[in-house]
Amino acid sequence: MTFEPHTRDGDVIVAAKSGPLSGEVVVPGAKNSVLKLMAATLLADGQYVLTNVPVIEDVAIMADLLTAVGLQIEVQPARVGEVGQHLVIRNTGAITPVAPFELADRIRASVNLVGPLLGRFGHIDIALPGGDDFGGRPIDMHLRGLEAMGAQFDITSEGIVGHCAELRGAEIEFDFPSVGATENILMAAVVANGETTIRNAAREPEIVDLCTMLRAMGCRIQGIGTAILVITGVAAASLQAVTHEVVTDRVQAATYIAAVGMCGGSIRVQRANASHMGMMLTRFTDMGMRFDIDDDGITATAPEQLTAVNVSTLPYPGVATDYKPLVVAMLSLASGVGIVTENLYPGRFRYVEELRKLGADITIDGHHAVVRGVGHLHGASVIAPDIRAGATLVVAGLAASGITEVSDVFHIDRGYDDLVGRLAGLGASISRISGSPS
Ligand code: UD1
Repeated sequence: MTFEPHTRDGDVIVAAKSGPLSGEVVVPGAKNSVLKLMAATLLADGQYVLTNVPVIEDVAIMADLLTAVGLQIEVQPARVGEVGQHLVIRNTGAITPVAPFELADRIRASVNLVGPLLGRFGHIDIALPGGDDFGGRPIDMHLRGLEAMGAQFDITSEGIVGHCAELRGAEIEFDFPSVGATENILMAAVVANGETTIRNAAREPEIVDLCTMLRAMGCRIQGIGTAILVITGVAAASLQAVTHEVVTDRVQAATYIAAVGMCGGSIRVQRANASHMGMMLTRFTDMGMRFDIDDDGITATAPEQLTAVNVSTLPYPGVATDYKPLVVAMLSLASGVGIVTENLYPGRFRYVEELRKLGADITIDGHHAVVRGVGHLHGASVIAPDIRAGATLVVAGLAASGITEVSDVFHIDRGYDDLVGRLAGLGASISRISGSPS
């Protein structure tokens, strides 16, 4: 089936000064997990059910991409008492490992098809990944790892063609714990011949989620959640389809926490998993926020006044780069000066110009942002440059006097499930104005 886009060109989110916020928001499943879980269904025939799936544009695009290579995908609404939708994915084995350019070009996660398709079919022909445009996003580590397992690649201006007679286990050590490279090698290694060791593997909760599903399918993985993954390949035919619940989105959870931090009040962030957000919650606490944590979520309470802190982004368990725009926006309203250091993506400061339009005082020096608290933001028309920065501008707009209009909302729709509705549910003055059909 083809998935209907819910974004229209010209959609605008309008945010007015809000707060104190109150009530409960239920956080859905993680974009950065579900896209990889969907790719994993290429590995074995059968009928999969993914639950707690967020209603976001990237899921729709990934579903179209996987449908184009031969999977059958049906969306079912959430059951009573559940949050996300269900994806029923049927893999009949009739897969063509060729990803059409017009779809793969639109989504970074298309690169996640490389590992499972190569592992299972020994061949791929896939467009180079698109997705968020925040500086070069090379995939050399993905390709080097797969080459060590016996694959060969031709890179053209259109994309990547890869093949291998047989993928075999290998010793792979990453220079850097890349999320995408870890996932790709993992999904190739589970059906390769022999044992693969990935050293300096990424340890993000979304990778643990993928490993958990792969293990339920019959894959043999040791060291889950650590920097050393040892994978013993098995025959794809011995694997089985499973039902799996997508892990909660820690970045969406942090977005609502940042909203209450900036607008004031106290909210319940239901399903937020504090154990996946440890460092970020520590930094938020240093800024003056208070958290009551239990098994089902987090209650977050804002201080009268946020206090500036310094924050560096690092691979998990460090503060994720995806939280960073939220932190910069919060520091804009904090007392004092905070320095935010970006260690993953040098180009990921482009939203700063937009925050400045709201009155923020931010100076960029290399990969550092020096944020001077101004105590007050004012509304303006701004443009969402990517998913997380877009959501940050919406939240900052709620803390600004007057009206803030955020355009290029399609970025936000790629990763946020009903941001407007969820913020409105917390008492925020926010609405979405539809543009013309795209
Ligand atoms: C994933 C997330 C993204 C998050 C990022 C880091 C998804 C869909 N996206 O992206 O939201 O911001 O993790 O937590 O899950 N690098 C190389 N060569 C490679 C691979 C990566 O140089 O072969 C570099 C990248 O350019 C970047 C850094 O390593 O500077 C981190 O990349 P990586 O961890 O791979 O992030 P993604 O998987 O792309």
